[in-house]
Amino acid sequence: MSSATACAQPNIALVKYWGKRDEKLILPATGSLSMTLDSFTTTTSVHVGEDADSFTLNGSPASLAATQRTTGFLELVRELAGDDRPAAVVSTNEAPTGAGLASSASGFAALALAASAAYGLDLDQPALSRLARRGSGSACRSIVPGFAVWHAGTDDASSYAEPVPAPDLRLVIVTIDGHQKAVSSRDAMRLTRDTSPFYDGWVSSTREVLDEMVIACRAGDVARIGELTELHALRMHAVIASSRPPVRYLAPASVSVLDTAEALRASGVQAWATADAGPNVCLLTTPGDADEVAAAVGGLGGVRVVAPGPGARLVSPEL
Ligand code: PMV
Repeated sequence: MSSATACAQPNIALVKYWGKRDEKLILPATGSLSMTLDSFTTTTSVHVGEDADSFTLNGSPASLAATQRTTGFLELVRELAGDDRPAAVVSTNEAPTGAGLASSASGFAALALAASAAYGLDLDQPALSRLARRGSGSACRSIVPGFAVWHAGTDDASSYAEPVPAPDLRLVIVTIDGHQKAVSSRDAMRLTRDTSPFYDGWVSSTREVLDEMVIACRAGDVARIGELTELHALRMHAVIASSRPPVRYLAPASVSVLDTAEALRASGVQAWATADAGPNVCLLTTPGDADEVAAAVGGLGGVRVVAPGPGARLVSPEL
C-alpha cells in the first residue's frame, strides 16, 4: 500500500472568485487574488490499495455528498496516474466546515497533494494548483504560500495560481456563526451567473480591480490594497444579493464588523473588511495595528489574528 499525508491552510480572497465559465473544468469567469493563512490547518492522508474508496472527516465517516465529491476527485488523480486502485482518505479540519472559512480550499489543496503523492505522481506547483482547482476553485490558491494570484486562463492548462509579491499583512477573522451555510457557494455562483442582471458588470469590473490589486501588491501600497479589498467584497455580496431568488450571506453582526472597520479608519487605524460566502468577516490590517483591530471587534464574535502562511506541503505523520 502506498500512502502520503499533506497539510494545507485556507485562503481568503482580497479579489474574489465568483462565477465559472466552465463548470466541469472549474474555469473561473475572472482571475482572483488571495492570502493563504497560517491557521486552520487541514491534514489529509491518502492510503492507496484499499478495497473501496472511503472518506473519514474529523474522525467520522463523511456525508454521502462529501464522499462522492472526494471519490470524483480521486478519479481525476487515478486517471493522471494510470492507477485504478481505490483509496482511503482520512482528513481533519481545524476550521468549522462550510462556515465560509474556506475549508473546501484547504481540504482540496491537501487532498490534491496527498493523493498525487500517494498515487506516485510528482507534480510541480502549477500542475498541483490546476489539480486542486478541479476539487474546489479556490483550492488552487491554497497550494501557494502567502499571496497568490489565480489566473483565469483560457483552458485547463493555463488556469492556476502563482505567488505574487505583497507587503506583510494580517487578517483579523471574526467568526460570527460556525454553522453550515444555507446555500453552497457552488449553487449560489450558478444562480448569480444565470439570474443577476448585474453579472456582466461584476465580471468586467473584477478584471479591472484585479489589475489594480496586483499593481498595489507589487508596490506595497497597503491603503490601496485595503480599499480595493473592501470594495470588491461589497460588490460580490451585492451581485449575490441581486440573484433571483436573492441570496444573502451577511448577518446583522457582519454589518456591525463593517461599521467597526469604518470607525477604526476614521480614528487612523488601518482596517478594511472582506467576507466570503457566509456571515464571518475578516478585517485586513497591518502587523502593527492587528491587536487594536482585534480588540475593537472582540464583542462581535470569536476573534483570531492570522498571518500569511505556507502553501500545501507533505508531512510525515499519518492519520
Ligand atoms: O472555491 P469555492 O467554490 O469554495 O468558492 C469560493 C468563493 C469565495 O470564497 C466566496 C470567493 C473566493 O475567491 O474565495
